[in-house]
Amino acid sequence: MKILSVVGARPNFMKVAPLHRLLLFKEGIDAKVIHTGQHYDERMSDIFFRQLELPEPDIFLGVGSGSHAVQTSKIMVKFEKVVDDENPDLVIVVGDVNSTVACTLVAKKKHVKVAHIEAGLRSFDRKMPEEINRIVTDSISDLLFVTEESGEKNLQNEGIKNHKIKMVGNVMIDSLLHFQTKSQKLKVLEKLGVEKNNYGLVTLHRPSNVDDEQSLSQALEILQKVSKRIPLVFPIHPRTYKNARKYGLDSYLDNNKKIIVTDPQGYLEFLNLMENARVVITDSGGIQEETTFLKVPCLTLRDNTERPITVEKGSNTLLPMDKQQIINKVEEVLEGKYKRGEVPHLWDGKAANRIVNVLLN
Ligand code: UD1
Repeated sequence: MKILSVVGARPNFMKVAPLHRLLLFKEGIDAKVIHTGQHYDERMSDIFFRQLELPEPDIFLGVGSGSHAVQTSKIMVKFEKVVDDENPDLVIVVGDVNSTVACTLVAKKKHVKVAHIEAGLRSFDRKMPEEINRIVTDSISDLLFVTEESGEKNLQNEGIKNHKIKMVGNVMIDSLLHFQTKSQKLKVLEKLGVEKNNYGLVTLHRPSNVDDEQSLSQALEILQKVSKRIPLVFPIHPRTYKNARKYGLDSYLDNNKKIIVTDPQGYLEFLNLMENARVVITDSGGIQEETTFLKVPCLTLRDNTERPITVEKGSNTLLPMDKQQIINKVEEVLEGKYKRGEVPHLWDGKAANRIVNVLLN
């Protein structure tokens, strides 16, 4: 059986790594990794391959950045050739990025089976590019591997047959557990000059928060305010960095010693930073899950989440971009009154094993 696993952007690498590690050693399976190059530089891509101990991609498509249409179509054109040359039995796609939907469309039109890992998540917000990617990918995939109960329900509601849906847990937690000890040995806090449990960790990159001048300046102003209560470490995403410069908001980032702005961090460094943070403030998808697993308070600056279990069971809270509400929640955390949460079912480090068992059967 020939299996092509597709990765494209930063949040894909830690999802494919545990699976590829297993597939490489299974007899009768020829497993290859195809990197579309949606993310392409050292900080957003290469360092993840090294740290997650992924071999160099077997095929690199080098599509780079562009508008949604440009990026998606470039991936499709290049991936079509890969499917023709490789003639795979199965294409595995993960998550909800443009590479996920582009390669699914190509594979299905060539009658190749597709397995989608992290299927069924829905924010019910069709203004999010990722939501469109999720809906389209799930609607045509053959096997839908689900991380939480809401995923199963959403797929059933969309008319997907039960035999295609497999609840297997969360492969991201497989990576987290596999690399946790290694990450704990790093001296990240010392390097940044912060103390364990005495800083907040921030990431922001959602288009709805950072693409528009008013939203971004509001977000940065709120961080300014929060930093008066607890120092913040802010590994800044290239999208956010570019926009902050474009809108002349540099002063928020440059002139405040309490906001430590860094380049995007490696996988191991970021895991260390999450685990030791007093609070995480983010608009990411995956970080909501990782903090739930680590039982670290997570304040997600969004109106909705496609990962409701992190709010219902885990350590996550959704908050609007409202200064007072965010400050109040930070205070609640600092006073030790914030919920601790529980780890969801099957987030146990064995999701990739369950997926491989399904594939082999
Ligand atoms: C993409 C995903 C998003 C995911 C995020 C994680 C889609 C629709 N979006 O958004 O779901 O949460 O990745 O980061 O697929 N850039 C670099 N270096 C790189 C890659 C990009 O500097 O290696 C710059 C680009 O020039 C661009 C900006 O970062 O200006 C944003 O990149 P883009 O590809 O638009 O996607 P993300 O915002 O990262």
